[in-house]
Amino acid sequence: MSERGADADRDVLEEVERLIAALQSHSDPAVREQVGALLQGIDTVHRIGLSRLVAGIQSMAGEAFVHRLCADPAIRLLLMSYGLVAVNRRLQAEEALDAVRGHLHAGGVDVELCDVVGSVVYVRLHGRATVDEAAVRHDLEEALHDGLLGFQELVIGERETQRPAATVIPASNLKRVQRPVYRRALAADALAPGQTAPVELEGQSLLLANVEGEVYAVRNRCGDSPLPLQFGRLEGAELVCSWHGCRWDVRSGGRVDGGEGRLAVYPVRVDTGSVEVAVGVEPVAAG
Ligand code: FES
Repeated sequence: MSERGADADRDVLEEVERLIAALQSHSDPAVREQVGALLQGIDTVHRIGLSRLVAGIQSMAGEAFVHRLCADPAIRLLLMSYGLVAVNRRLQAEEALDAVRGHLHAGGVDVELCDVVGSVVYVRLHGRATVDEAAVRHDLEEALHDGLLGFQELVIGERETQRPAATVIPASNLKRVQRPVYRRALAADALAPGQTAPVELEGQSLLLANVEGEVYAVRNRCGDSPLPLQFGRLEGAELVCSWHGCRWDVRSGGRVDGGEGRLAVYPVRVDTGSVEVAVGVEPVAAG
């Protein structure tokens, strides 16, 4: 698929999400309920049809042909959304990095993907020692944000070709103290026990859940899938995903139905009548 095609897909997905979020926060509860029922109905129709389609392709053309179809990112995303093909995070990360590899290579830097663990991507840089690492990091993070669903953190490992001789590290560098940055999500009385609410903070899509008076915040995506959790129902501390029924503990982010995966959990505090969520960190100035 062309880059423009992938961009268009992302734009459509973002627009659909925006429209769903707008309808889900409609002031009329009947509209909210009907939207939830509509989405579930559409999901059921698509799920049945797609499952039969994939089963038919597998039986007529074999598993290898399904894999060939999945080389198209749009098809892969669709089938992954319905749990019909395994999510390959490493492949997604490689493809995301491909968007900037040529440009970085021209600047004398090659990027090696080392690992993808949940929302964290580990890379190693090879090449010129004089390169501006902050600029490279910026390019890589932008590419991963664009191309890898759920990406949150980039870890750049030691540069292989530039391993320095033993040096004395200044004590001030040994510990870089950082503190969380809290942002207001909503009024504390806007979320009753047993309720959930989607919020967008600093470009991150979160879901808040009130469990017996304690508010928790998780990423508003079901595991590695691109589908939002906001249409799920809260049963105690367990959030049951509306799409395929995965169960998540919103306090820990852990999966509680025996499946794999973990939700990113964000620190929450209630301050002067507002629920605030930590969506990043900032360095603490040396005293
Ligand atoms: S998207 Fe499949 S259970 Fe949530």
